[in-house]
Amino acid sequence: MKNLKNALLLKQLYQLKQLGYRYTSQTPFKDEEPDLTLPNTLDKLEKQAKECHLCDLSKSRTHVVFGEGNPQSRLMFVGEAPGSTEDSMGKPFVGRSGDLLTKMIENVLHLRREDVYITNIVKCRPPNNRVPTPTEALTCQPYLLKQIELIKPDLIIALGATAYHYLTGDDSPVSKVRGTMQTHKGIMILPTYHPSYLLRNPSAKKEVYLDLLKAEKYLSPHQ
Ligand code: URA
Repeated sequence: MKNLKNALLLKQLYQLKQLGYRYTSQTPFKDEEPDLTLPNTLDKLEKQAKECHLCDLSKSRTHVVFGEGNPQSRLMFVGEAPGSTEDSMGKPFVGRSGDLLTKMIENVLHLRREDVYITNIVKCRPPNNRVPTPTEALTCQPYLLKQIELIKPDLIIALGATAYHYLTGDDSPVSKVRGTMQTHKGIMILPTYHPSYLLRNPSAKKEVYLDLLKAEKYLSPHQ
């Protein structure tokens, strides 16, 4: 909630600045604290995210890409941010790296794409596909944390360094931590390479294959 509150506070201060204020003695939120709790259903959360203007990414997006899939899934994939195809379609991982992710889900995990839940660290496309800034990622974080709280996956596969970093707080390169099962706040997280990295470095596909086998084993009822 702190991130949301800070983002709202910053937005109010920018609005005052645009109106010509250089100093203010006002304490926003003092008299009337807005209700900053996020909704407790995925549909309502998505509706709220779709109206979000808490960071600059909202200015250039076409669609908010909230996430999609089975809300009861035991497996969640978290990527970095929507790209241009995702931004125009409003769905996560539907471009070239999405095609590869779908193949990984179907051919290695033997699941259908719609059986899992897929989302990103930020829900709006960063201009020119740059990495989201820490402010953008942290402002968007309450939506992701609420998605995780509502879906309660048994395992989250963090796709790439940005997803891994903002899910765990750890700055280690993915090459060092990939394939390691890590518990964070009671949730199992498995980092692996991002599909767009695999498109540029196809030889790393064998490592991702091994990581996904670990995920499959972990989720198997007979483990
Ligand atoms: N890359 C991501 O990290 N997420 C998407 O949704 C698409 C590409």
